Amino acid sequence: MLQVNPINALSLLFFAFVFTIWARWRNSRQYSLPPGPRKLPIVGNLFDIPSKGYIWLEYAEMCKKYNSDIIHLSALRNSIIVLNSAQAVSDLLEKRSSLYSSRPPTVMLGELMGWGTTSVFRPYDDVWKAQRKIFIRAIPPTDAKRFHSKQIAATHDLLRVLAHSDDIMKDLHTWAAVFIMDVTYGIQGEEAKPFLKTAIETLDSMAIAGTPGAFLVDQIPILKYVPEWFPGADFKRKAREWNILRIKMTEDAYRVTKERTAAGTATSSLASVALKQMDLTKDIAQQEELIKAASVTAYGGGSDTTVAALGAFILAMLMNPHVQTEAQRELDKVLAPGDLPTFNDEPDLPYISAIVREVLRYQPVTPLAFPHLVTEDDIYSGYLIPKGSIIMPNVWSILHNEEDYPDSDRFNPSRYLDANGNIDPNVKDPIGPAFGFGRRSCAGKHIALASLWIGVASILTCYRIEPEIDEHGNLMERKGEWYPGPTLFNHPLPFKCRFIPRCSEDAAE
Ligand code: HEM
Repeated sequence: MLQVNPINALSLLFFAFVFTIWARWRNSRQYSLPPGPRKLPIVGNLFDIPSKGYIWLEYAEMCKKYNSDIIHLSALRNSIIVLNSAQAVSDLLEKRSSLYSSRPPTVMLGELMGWGTTSVFRPYDDVWKAQRKIFIRAIPPTDAKRFHSKQIAATHDLLRVLAHSDDIMKDLHTWAAVFIMDVTYGIQGEEAKPFLKTAIETLDSMAIAGTPGAFLVDQIPILKYVPEWFPGADFKRKAREWNILRIKMTEDAYRVTKERTAAGTATSSLASVALKQMDLTKDIAQQEELIKAASVTAYGGGSDTTVAALGAFILAMLMNPHVQTEAQRELDKVLAPGDLPTFNDEPDLPYISAIVREVLRYQPVTPLAFPHLVTEDDIYSGYLIPKGSIIMPNVWSILHNEEDYPDSDRFNPSRYLDANGNIDPNVKDPIGPAFGFGRRSCAGKHIALASLWIGVASILTCYRIEPEIDEHGNLMERKGEWYPGPTLFNHPLPFKCRFIPRCSEDAAE
């Protein structure tokens, strides 16, 4: 048997350590950091990091100021790299994805609230890989059709309520939540309601905790040891309560699916399929933890994002009546009177597909995607990218780049169509950047796209979206506002409009 000499092993370790230090020292002497605002002693760029408004626009401005598509900032212990072009993002997050696929640790969300066990927040490790595998095996992108009937049913429910809606965003929430609860756990209709209540409260708590700069403990991690009773340590109480919500959200629906799977009565869902695919020769408890985490991630990742995108679509229609007219002309040509669209109609409705693309480009739901973390020192364009840097891809800048999308601040689905009205393969498809990058890109993209497509096609078939009428009988101004931030998640503020029927309400029966 091979004998390991402890002295040799120690020498090797020592050599590796010295080499690493030397390589880092050499890199830092040979290569400079990317440009960026001047750093102050100790705090670095703490006061330059955008903490209000639309953070992605602030970063885009900084890149313009330093005339670079890659800039560097530091804040206390964090090194931050902003990538402002499709080229830089593709070169690093995609072509060098083995280095750029981890996530920065988050103290409030990840550690104190317990979300660090779920795949969105995991570093690039074996637990993440196992959860991603569960997700892809249970909801394969090659089998998007499996959920089409659930998507159609949820959309028809939405059509029934829209004409009488007094809170559009709330109705969209119900649409997305009912569907995603069914996809994730197979829990449907009225039975889903109590779970949805917990889920909404939990996602709200995540939105608060995930707001950049919301909790000092993310900048100064040592604060996590402050006891809850200590003056100013209210964040510890919040984290404890929000962790309880997380556990409830993770456990309750899973328990129901597990019981039904055991009884043979479960419908097809992420959790039920994954439970059936468990390897009974391996640690069952460990596999169950992975399934729970993969399921709750799917629920969390899939509901508010889809709502924000469909909300953006409705606002875009309100602001651009000519786009509605064009879409409805196409729908009326393809569908028989009184029919609602199905996924079979998709190839014949390119303008509807173009609207979905334009919604995701014009107001991307995640304008900075989700931060990645680089796990080794790297050199790019002559700059040093230090190991452990947080990487922020500026999706907004990529999707508002005038070369790829002329007149980029205008909502214009026709930009994707060729002279024959078909999708033009020469126009850059915004769907890629809208769903993130490399190995961390959105695992539910196929589900989200199908939900959006059927939502857009069905709403435009059934309704004309018009402004409210004021007390004098005049049409009110067509306007929409976006959550002013600071946030990483771009969504419309609640708004009002009228859904004027073009089809009878029982078409959705
Ligand atoms: C319009 C809707 C959606 C948008 C815009 C969106 C966008 C994103 C983005 C930007 C990421 C991070 C990518 C990165 O780090 O580079 C992500 C991750 C993820 N999304 Fe989505 N998503 C949507 C819908 C969904 C749906 C419906 C599901 C589930 C059915 C889902 C499941 C996930 C999961 C599991 C991850 C974690 C990936 C990881 O870190 O490994 N998403 N999504």
